Amino acid sequence: MAFKYDVLIVGSGVSGLYCALNLDENLNVAVVSKSSLDNNNTYLAQGGISTARDKDDIESFIEDTLKAGQYENKIEAVEILAKESIENIEQIVRYGMPLDKENGEIDYTREGAHSINRIVHSKDNTGEIVYKTLIKEVSKRGNISLIEDACLVDIFTEKEKCIGARFLKGDQELHIFSKVLVLATGGIGGLFKKSTNQRHLTGDGIAIALKNKIKIKNLKYIQIHPTAFYEENNKGRRMLISESLRGEGGKLLNKNKERFVDELLPRDVVSRAIFEQMKKDGSQYVYLDATHLGEEYLKNRFSFIYNECLARGTDITKELIKVSPAQHYFMGGIDVDLKSKTSMENLYAVGEVSCTGVHGANRLASNSLLEGLVFSKRAAKDINRIVGNIDIKVKNLDYIDTTVDQAIFDNINIVINEIKKTSEDFSDELFAYR
Ligand code: SIN
Repeated sequence: MAFKYDVLIVGSGVSGLYCALNLDENLNVAVVSKSSLDNNNTYLAQGGISTARDKDDIESFIEDTLKAGQYENKIEAVEILAKESIENIEQIVRYGMPLDKENGEIDYTREGAHSINRIVHSKDNTGEIVYKTLIKEVSKRGNISLIEDACLVDIFTEKEKCIGARFLKGDQELHIFSKVLVLATGGIGGLFKKSTNQRHLTGDGIAIALKNKIKIKNLKYIQIHPTAFYEENNKGRRMLISESLRGEGGKLLNKNKERFVDELLPRDVVSRAIFEQMKKDGSQYVYLDATHLGEEYLKNRFSFIYNECLARGTDITKELIKVSPAQHYFMGGIDVDLKSKTSMENLYAVGEVSCTGVHGANRLASNSLLEGLVFSKRAAKDINRIVGNIDIKVKNLDYIDTTVDQAIFDNINIVINEIKKTSEDFSDELFAYR
């Protein structure tokens, strides 16, 4: 089956949906999702969205982002992130995003390596609420079609320009031609045995970039989150225990119930300290103690974590939480400019699959949803400017290609092999590929 759209967006997380919402409403847009629309990493985000609190906070937000990123960040991208943060938070609030408030004022929370409280949130399931806010807005727009359960296999190119993509939906091939294609395919966590990510997110966009010689960057920068819920014999996704729980006072303890690290150092530093402690303790986990925060507060402010832990047998108001590090985020990706354009004409990349350079070697907590907002809007604005000048024709590729299943399998191996080449950390069982 072949279709034609002005703009094809692959991925239904924050960056895919927000990009769609910022496109001109006279454009014919399709958003394609690999699984159900809500089965994305945005939905899992707990902590919140970082933002400069006001103009005076911009410099400090930039410095915190650079410091966490070990000054490997692209400075222009970080400046844009901080300067454009407030307007984008205001835009999602206009769409109906409810932010937690205290005495009528926004309740900013704190996470590791932020020098002040500057993270807006909806309790401890901010990602779910962002997703629901955006998808509700998308459903009001007559120009945006939504296609679920279609796995991206490859892109179509002509004279080195992107002209669409092919998908596998059930046992049918789907050919979608588009003037502009936006990859918003998310991260690589599904490649790892231990990850907080959705299992079907296997770096598809990266594989396609590698196959089509589209520039990629910083593949070695893979973020390990310090605190994923520990469950013996868990083969599925690891449940995140938000850094904001430490931001609000949660303490990390060793087997003797003693603190061993400043909980609010950057993620890479805390993860390393936990690994060392686990080795010393001869244990598969350390403890996170939130009991002193009080039952009523925990049940209200951290209701998601409270309920999810309880369902797994831990009452966080009374018991210590067993945690260990797990793969969480990919700072590398498809190299894009400040308008999210890739090295291939008419192809953009936004969100975790892209590398804007904003995160450097290590992402500052809660900067991922913000990056998704800021840089997908920038992509949309650029697409609005250029799309009228692009003309494409639907090609007749009306055949069933039996190699498609193999191509999906190959895509996974392409990414694993490429990342293995650049990274030293992956021999350890904790990081091992599945
Ligand atoms: C968390 O809540 O700890 C995760 C937020 C993020 O990945 O920045």
